[in-house]
Amino acid sequence: MDKKLIKDFPYEYEIVDPEKNEDLVNYFCTPKDEYVTIGPKKYFLLKGYLSGAARIYNFPLSSEDTFVITYPKSGTTLTQELVWLLGNNLDYEKAESININERFPFLEISAMLNIDEFPLTADLKKELKKSLIPVTLEQIEEMPSPRFIKSHLPLSLLPPSLLDTTKVVYIARDPRDVAVSYYKFQQFLNIVPPEKEFKQYWKFFMSNQIMWTPYFEHVLEAWEQRKHPNMLFLFYEDMLKDLTGAVRRVADFYGKTLLDDQVNNLARHLDFDTFKKNKSVNMEDLKKTGIYSSDGAFIRKGKAGGWRNYFDEEMSAQADEWIAKHLSDTDFRLPHC
Ligand code: A3P
Repeated sequence: MDKKLIKDFPYEYEIVDPEKNEDLVNYFCTPKDEYVTIGPKKYFLLKGYLSGAARIYNFPLSSEDTFVITYPKSGTTLTQELVWLLGNNLDYEKAESININERFPFLEISAMLNIDEFPLTADLKKELKKSLIPVTLEQIEEMPSPRFIKSHLPLSLLPPSLLDTTKVVYIARDPRDVAVSYYKFQQFLNIVPPEKEFKQYWKFFMSNQIMWTPYFEHVLEAWEQRKHPNMLFLFYEDMLKDLTGAVRRVADFYGKTLLDDQVNNLARHLDFDTFKKNKSVNMEDLKKTGIYSSDGAFIRKGKAGGWRNYFDEEMSAQADEWIAKHLSDTDFRLPHC
């Protein structure tokens, strides 16, 4: 396969040949030539990423920046809201009045998705940009400090000085729950047609053909840096079990001292049932653009271990083997639940 380079970016990329990925092409409702793999770990991304790869890798950082980095569906939004409120004097009013995508923009999304190419009317495209990509990559560069930035990219595709310059909160979640959550989310986005089964999705996930995979490479890059003073590595499952404990850990990481009442109020604000109704984080405004199905929700179940309802015996055995293989050379362990 043809390997290619981008100026000011250290890794080669390959366009994924749609002929060799017929199963994938037939499963998703996306155009045929949409994917690329990047670098030696072969991170699987949308082709649009190439247009922003060098700009992201060389992104000008400030010591006041904060990044929340996750593999998708690992509790990113919950963590963003927590981090943003801690960094903004618990200003709940402001948090409620400005969409999280604007307060805490998604670094690579404007490069990856070209909304102008979507089959939508001009008005809906405008609406979609406003709620999904209110701030472009170029505009994130210009945002005043302190900047709050979300990314699903692994550390190796982000600026090499990231950890020595900014604060990073990385959240990991059991990949089986991640895959179910992502499948449900992509159905909700009409990217996966309703009749397509999860069993095939899980195969794509394990064989690194879902966006931002390989999952374990992504998580392990961060795990290796977990003792860096500017890195806070948390598990979604631990946040679920003890939200006030998570609030305290994140506050400590930012050197903030909170009163017990402040901790409890913040945990209540982040609690799943409250969060689900919070319009600045629940992406409900996207429904009017028609890109979301009428049923389903972005803030969906918020549980650990729900994967058991989607895995048959064969899939569970494959998953055990796949997990064991990837954890054999590391002390990273999935949270027990
Ligand atoms: P489920 O689909 O399993 O319910 P991300 O923000 O990275 O996209 O992660 C989405 C997952 O986090 C979804 O998981 C979503 O329901 C869950 N989630 C979002 N807000 C939450 C909250 N306040 N408490 C617990 N889980 C939450």
